[in-house]
Amino acid sequence: MNIALLGFGVVGSHFYTLAKEHGGVKVTTVLSRRPRPELDCTVTADFDEIVRDGSIDLVVEVMGGVEPAFSYLSAAMRAGKHVVTANKQLMCAHYEELLSLAKSNNVSLRCTAAAGGGIPWLTSLARAAENDRITAVEGILNGTTNYMLSAMTNKGSDYTAILKEAQALGYAEADPTADVEGYDARRKLVLSANLAFGVSIREDDVPCVGISHITPPDIEKAKELGLTFKLIARAEQSGNKVAAFVCPTLFPVTAPEAHTDGTGNLVSLYAKRIGKQSFSGAGAGGFPTGSNVLADCLEIRRGGCGVYYTDRSKPCPVDNSAAEGRWFFRHNGEYLFFGDYTVAQAFEVYEKYRQDDPTALMARVAAPRKK
Ligand code: HSE
Repeated sequence: MNIALLGFGVVGSHFYTLAKEHGGVKVTTVLSRRPRPELDCTVTADFDEIVRDGSIDLVVEVMGGVEPAFSYLSAAMRAGKHVVTANKQLMCAHYEELLSLAKSNNVSLRCTAAAGGGIPWLTSLARAAENDRITAVEGILNGTTNYMLSAMTNKGSDYTAILKEAQALGYAEADPTADVEGYDARRKLVLSANLAFGVSIREDDVPCVGISHITPPDIEKAKELGLTFKLIARAEQSGNKVAAFVCPTLFPVTAPEAHTDGTGNLVSLYAKRIGKQSFSGAGAGGFPTGSNVLADCLEIRRGGCGVYYTDRSKPCPVDNSAAEGRWFFRHNGEYLFFGDYTVAQAFEVYEKYRQDDPTALMARVAAPRKK
């Protein structure tokens, strides 16, 4: 199976190495703006050459961003080529169009590396959703913020310095705002919820708070309470709607989430018959993510994939008015606990607090109630 690779950054270059080592698929062309004499394959800056090349069976896209990735993958599918992408931003922005293009052209579309880095999360989730009813998905889905929060909690690292380190190590998005403000975790949540519940929810409908307001005194306060901050994305079935949100969450220091350090992701599904299943591993980084891209290519080569993971993708509103939680806020220097607010109410309170304290903090509390 011949592959054209679009993007030669952290994930692209590691995928290239892995594909070469494996040998079961062959990267014959790399799309690159600059010459790459170190590569022993065709290097072109002209995507049309790839579309016209009938020997290319599959296009791997790891460029990131919505355009030109969307135009390229649409053209590739129209030309009858399978597509594998790690691009969660693209998959969220054009979910239904991409699925329908794959269907109408009868090609496979896979994006396992788009959520969970190296963890086979989306494939496992799709498999569970096929024969059981998923009631919720929840977890740590961003490696960069987990790396930062772990270092801030365990070593007292400075926020700006540790973010720079995560960028230098190739974990962060091109614009790390997507990591620290929770947008990257939200995109992964949207993809997970879509597969879990057979829906298509909109990224903008999911309220989202990141980690940029968590300060060293907040971390100390959490420690005093025996709790640890993690950035959590959660979606649950709520009647015929979906409740979904992203926000910092406080876990008891003994919880598995609290022990998920570095770029680790830990994500769980809750299903009616099989109960809870959790998946953990490296959520970012070249080899883990590149390896999930390769796994998708190999599965397509074996003919083991349908068009997409699921046929179901009904547009669905996000409704947080019934899902409940317990909440922790910092407003004008004062720490406040609230119990049994709905998710919608908690985000309303947070918005109100932010009006006179733009650095106010909101976190969900995932600890058992004190008797
Ligand atoms: N920036 C992402 C993260 C990369 O830190 O999780 C992997 O999707």
